[in-house]
Amino acid sequence: MKKLIFLMLVALLMSCMPRAFTPAERELILTSDSLMYVTQIHADSAVLRTPSLDLTAEELSSQELRVLMAKMLYTVQHPTQDGVGIASPQVGLNKRIVCVQRFDKPGEPFECYLNAHLESLGGEIAVGPEGCLSIPGKRGLVPRHTKVQIRYVAPGTTQERTEEVEGFTAVIFQHEIDHLEGILYTDRADSVFVAPR
Ligand code: NI
Repeated sequence: MKKLIFLMLVALLMSCMPRAFTPAERELILTSDSLMYVTQIHADSAVLRTPSLDLTAEELSSQELRVLMAKMLYTVQHPTQDGVGIASPQVGLNKRIVCVQRFDKPGEPFECYLNAHLESLGGEIAVGPEGCLSIPGKRGLVPRHTKVQIRYVAPGTTQERTEEVEGFTAVIFQHEIDHLEGILYTDRADSVFVAPR
């Protein structure tokens, strides 16, 4: 009888002790094959995480670039995507191209920016919701500057120019130009959650 009580106490104590592994981790450890599945960086992740290069003068004047911009503009506005911005790594190219919806312009047009860089960050820091076409089904709360200065080459030109952008459009530029550095909004987010449908 004493032995039984002792064993029950031990069992009770063990059940109260913190487990080293979660149930999901225990299942993975105990039910997996001896040859365990090795997690992999997907090819998509690699291109999203690689810093992008400026386009050369030859690329800037190329027919391929015109086709690419047209396809990126079509893609970001397609009903299956419905984005407010897209960066070339998202379509598989590590070139410094972003297409952004200009909510700060009449008609809110989509425009492409070549060799785009964030020249400076200003204003205040404000936290707002963001999503990304490359991270479907998720959203996050991300701190961003309310004002930025961008440096870029406009399509059809070769001269660099700078421009100050404010408000939500400034947030889109920060998100898209981050893509050109291999940075995703989830790297900067205070929290990431499943997007309400
Ligand atoms: Ni994105």
